[in-house]
Amino acid sequence: RTVYLADYQPFPFTLDQVSLTFRLAPRATRVLARLAFAPNPARPGRHDLRLNGENLRLVSAAVNGQAVSPAVDAEGLTIAAADLPTGAFTLDTEVEISPETNTALEGLYMSKGMYCTQCEAEGFRKITYYPDRPDVMARFAVRIEGEMPVLLSNGNPLGQGPGWAEWDDPWPKPAYLFALVAGALVAHPGQFTTASGRDVALNIWVRPGDENRCAWGMEALKKSMAWDEDVYGREYDLDIFNIVAVDDFNMGAMENKGLNIFNSKVVLASPDTATDDDFARIEAIIAHEYFHNWTGNRITCRDWFQLCLKEGLTVFRDQQFSGDMRSPAVKRIEDVLTLRARQFREDQGPLAHAVRPESFVEINNFYTATIYEKGAEVIGMLKRLVGDAAYARALDLYFSRHDGEAATIEDWLKVFEDATGRDLTQFKRWYSEAGTPRLKVQEAWAAAPAGGTYTLTFTQVNPPTPGQSAKGAKVIPIAVGLLNPNGDEVVPTTVLEMNKTVQSFAFENLSARPVPSILRGFSAPVVLEREVPQAERAFLLAHDTDPFNRWEAGRALAKDVLARMVTQGAKPTADLLDGMARLAFDDSLDPAFRALALRLPSDDDMAATLHAAGHVPDPARIHAARRALGLALAERLAPGLDGLERSCRGTGEFSAEAGPAGKRALRLAALAFLTRLDGGKAASTAFVQAYNMTESFGALAILLENCHGDQELAAFGSRWTHDRLVMDKWFAVQVGMAAPEAAAATVARLTARPDFDMKNPNRFRAVIGALTTNHAGFHHDSGAGYQTLADWLIRLDPLNPQTAARMSTAFETWPRYDADRQEMIRAELARILATPGLSRDLSEMAGRMLGA
Ligand code: ARG
Ligand code: ZN
Repeated sequence: RTVYLADYQPFPFTLDQVSLTFRLAPRATRVLARLAFAPNPARPGRHDLRLNGENLRLVSAAVNGQAVSPAVDAEGLTIAAADLPTGAFTLDTEVEISPETNTALEGLYMSKGMYCTQCEAEGFRKITYYPDRPDVMARFAVRIEGEMPVLLSNGNPLGQGPGWAEWDDPWPKPAYLFALVAGALVAHPGQFTTASGRDVALNIWVRPGDENRCAWGMEALKKSMAWDEDVYGREYDLDIFNIVAVDDFNMGAMENKGLNIFNSKVVLASPDTATDDDFARIEAIIAHEYFHNWTGNRITCRDWFQLCLKEGLTVFRDQQFSGDMRSPAVKRIEDVLTLRARQFREDQGPLAHAVRPESFVEINNFYTATIYEKGAEVIGMLKRLVGDAAYARALDLYFSRHDGEAATIEDWLKVFEDATGRDLTQFKRWYSEAGTPRLKVQEAWAAAPAGGTYTLTFTQVNPPTPGQSAKGAKVIPIAVGLLNPNGDEVVPTTVLEMNKTVQSFAFENLSARPVPSILRGFSAPVVLEREVPQAERAFLLAHDTDPFNRWEAGRALAKDVLARMVTQGAKPTADLLDGMARLAFDDSLDPAFRALALRLPSDDDMAATLHAAGHVPDPARIHAARRALGLALAERLAPGLDGLERSCRGTGEFSAEAGPAGKRALRLAALAFLTRLDGGKAASTAFVQAYNMTESFGALAILLENCHGDQELAAFGSRWTHDRLVMDKWFAVQVGMAAPEAAAATVARLTARPDFDMKNPNRFRAVIGALTTNHAGFHHDSGAGYQTLADWLIRLDPLNPQTAARMSTAFETWPRYDADRQEMIRAELARILATPGLSRDLSEMAGRMLGA
């Protein structure tokens, strides 16, 4: 059954107040709900009361205290209009649910003896009968009864005693923001005073033993609270803010009002157990969930088609925050890498969809890179187009106009129109049309004695995507700077506003033909298609004043070279090797930037690049070429590698801040090249001497990538046997670094271990997910990679459809490959689709990938 945006209608009843009582028991939790309904003036006439409910056993129901027998089906209950009073009424229900056997991890479930919830998007209907839609916003009062020392819900604590606690949330909210946690937890406490003087108690709740891994998350929370006040003028609005770490969780984290629930992987960190990447991700996700308090909770979404309203904006805000905490340039490069790896890939395949889709079967399948990351890019473009001051005015208007509401993309664009006087009709295509625009560039130079004119002519092509063949021209902000042949910048960054299919922009009075730096800062999520001589790329790699485009020049150069190595058996060029060497040893540059620049394009990225250039990518050849380029670079860098590796070694105390982390990243980059030349000596030493997880895991990964490290792998495994999060790394690195022909067998070996638990999403992703990131292994011509993934998806689906469906997207790239591979993948997708009792989640995904 497909749901359409066009069918939206308000709920026929208003619901102001909800009272819930939970009597917790692992297999027989009772949920008592009292819902105060009244007719909704927006829907005149008399209506049946239809409530969502799944996997609930209805014990009793009463309207205004009178027992009723609603019609119950697999998706909810209905009370006929004729059986309802004409005005306001109260509905009481009691249901029984079984958290312990809830392996889907949606609704109320148990994780290692603790109760917890995940309700977004439509999980609340697995807790009680309810109008489970985001435009129904109510105040919740919650009583929890259970033999657990810690009983938490949303809002402020009202009271507690042995075996019970009561919570009251004064802020109306949709059901997807409901949360409940009960367990033997301990708190890492903190405190924050808001700008207007409200004292807020902060807690990170964890299982005993994890208390010493909370400090970084707590600091990140305080930084986020201060940043949102400083930059967006947004204060926190309750007396308490709780975060809970849960081991079994389908995604990263969830912004439930006043009670954020986190996958323990993205909140727990200590120098011993977490890498610098983990620390950075934790900082970003804590911020993301906290920022949702305004962009998501105080202003929520009218319906799930508007998901990008909260997610795109909140991702944009967390990216700004991380840029401010760290290096904006490095953060931008990392974000663009992710965007291209996940969103461009999605946009180019059968799962392409608009930032605001118009239909869906299962909303959980739309928590995608397009909604999140492209949704954030669209906001970045808006900001670039209107300027910082107008952006701030528009956001102030958004918060004042829509506070307490469930809003739409139309509301969002209207605040920008009202704050700036702009017409955003054309800009709105970014929300309604899927696909990544291609931007072609032509240059013209007219020399003249008084100063020449340089003209850039852009042509945009908006390729078709499933269900959308014809598209209009997009508004594209193109940030451009011009450099003189001697490397000086003659025209600083200027934003050109393209809004036609073909459009020219002239720069006058130039003394010489300039070198253009186009799409600075990646000013729009488009693919720039421009044939550039390698020498020009090398020039920009050396001279561009825009750090993003400087990195981009090196990246493009490496891709050019790699593509020629794959398709023509070419050799790495001096332009690339010398350019990289200059950058690697340039101590005036940020080490984090240098580490990023030295990272070669991934195999998957090269497969996409070759496909876009009209080739059929061969995973084995790509893999071999990438290794050959790595070796050539190592040889070119060799004279300085040892010194670089030494100069980046840490001294003294560990700090997860950007500076020291950047040095560690550069050191590992140097170590990776060294290891191609020294048989693993330097990396083995680094592994033994490591004094934090970044170094020890980094060295281990480098060793395995170069076919060394058996001993180190064993040592790492026995040291961390009892640490589930570190062991996830141990599992993942073996699969991720396995030789192409050994990847599927590695999965088979690891999944046979007693500590492989398919019910734990982190462990499942660590093994099966890692297979899908090993490009040459997953796409090995035996088909073993495809078959292994399909087998495990079929096995996981009955237990946890959400995680199975998400991981199935590994198959979305099938149209890129040769006929044999296409056929093998399509056969696996067909096998999945033919599985009896397949979930709605996975069948929607498999069907869409098959083009059904
Ligand atoms: N709102 C959460 C976040 O972005 C994610 C919820 C994901 N839900 C889902 N069903 N996949 O922070
Ligand atoms: Zn979010």
